[in-house]
Amino acid sequence: MGVMRKKSIESLLAHATPLRRTLRTWDLTMLGIGAIIGTGIFVLTGKGALTAGPALSVSFLIAAVCCGFAALCYAEFASMVPVAGSAYTYAYVSFGEIVAFIIGWDLILEYALTAATVSAGWSGYFLDLLSSAGIHLPTALTAAEGTTPGVHTVFNLPAFVIVLVVTAVISVGINQTRRVNSVLVAVKLAVIVAFIAFTVWFVRPRNWQPFSPYGLYSFHGGTAAGIIPAASIVFFSFVGFDAVSSSAEETINPTKTLPRGIMASLGISTALYIVMTLIMTGVVPYPEFAHYLNAPVLAVLHATGQAWLAVIVSIGAILGMTTVILVMLYGQSRICYSMSRDGLFPKFFGQVSPRFRTPFKGTWFFGIVTALAGGFVNLNILSELVNIGTLAAFVLVSAGVLWMRHTRPELHRGFRAPGVPYTPLIAIAFCLLLIAGLNWQTWVRFLIWFALGMVIYLSYGRRHSMLNAAQQEAVSV
Ligand code: ALA
Repeated sequence: MGVMRKKSIESLLAHATPLRRTLRTWDLTMLGIGAIIGTGIFVLTGKGALTAGPALSVSFLIAAVCCGFAALCYAEFASMVPVAGSAYTYAYVSFGEIVAFIIGWDLILEYALTAATVSAGWSGYFLDLLSSAGIHLPTALTAAEGTTPGVHTVFNLPAFVIVLVVTAVISVGINQTRRVNSVLVAVKLAVIVAFIAFTVWFVRPRNWQPFSPYGLYSFHGGTAAGIIPAASIVFFSFVGFDAVSSSAEETINPTKTLPRGIMASLGISTALYIVMTLIMTGVVPYPEFAHYLNAPVLAVLHATGQAWLAVIVSIGAILGMTTVILVMLYGQSRICYSMSRDGLFPKFFGQVSPRFRTPFKGTWFFGIVTALAGGFVNLNILSELVNIGTLAAFVLVSAGVLWMRHTRPELHRGFRAPGVPYTPLIAIAFCLLLIAGLNWQTWVRFLIWFALGMVIYLSYGRRHSMLNAAQQEAVSV
């Protein structure tokens, strides 16, 4: 047994926390959109456009298809094991402890670094807004080192501060934040719809020619270009839909509601992304985005002479990205909490503050680490690490569906992903394709993170695991 020991679904369902069930499909969709739409569309589209040209919208479509197939697998698991913990819990019941630890460790990377990446994106729009009000921070404090060629930057102060502010909100309780989230999501959607409505008239189809200047995959000046590498970059835009499944214990009728919430938030975001990127590359010739890497959406508004809308969109982007940071830091603190409760992480991370009834210390620990990452590390490095971590989690979840259908067919009562085994196999194939589109430095960084996780599991988690204690007890009785 040892590292392959598994949690039983029956006991998980029997011991599910008695949280109040209040969330419906609509709430979950808002939660999903809150987590999905952010830095990907507001910031990474600049680099994406330079990498794929106007075919960027095809890259978004490829990333969406990958997520769609993986989402069906997530939805099946969420419906089969409707308890908190997302992929971490799914792996614990299907593959056993060591794989669960790997996924949990991977999700920490995904959630914490997503929050760090988005804080750096947030900072770009915030600084733009400040400068339009005539306020300028010292250049050294506007971005991580080496972010802008030829400009000496050291630390991204706004990114660091926003992560700490959101950490403070989460550490004292989540109830109020749910309500705030819905309002911020509505603002974010309104701003995107306004952007589309006011700029679509300026599309010049000749800007779409040539549509795919770098083809599917090619090399230019030593870097990968084309539709696939761009899809690997903008995949980040979809990261976060899995956060919906972590609300399983607070959802009314989760077996139906969770899959609907996941698919609806993914579908709405995909439609908005494709329309937005077609407009962006249709209004501005794509090489122009090189001058707008921090805030590419503003390139369109400057080209159309709508400075007033630029201010509104910047505010919407800032609020929208704040919700992503919030959902991610929340998810991150809850994964750490679950892993600590299971004994795989030190108790410190799971200790619930009697005053706030939140895992206060763990939330602050990772909040500070995340803030430092947002302050010191380049956004592109962070986002690609998030992508590889998330794609790896998708592969494991999809494989988990195949495995569970084979080994525990009686458990599949609620939502069943259509087309199994093809659906998970296609999801895995797309994930591997997108992993291949990332650069080798990202693979190496990911392997280092993975190795670090293994050291922690083998030296700490394996011995302190609650399942280990239960097994020892059973043996001695
Ligand atoms: N999908 C989220 C974003 O684009 C993480 O910001």
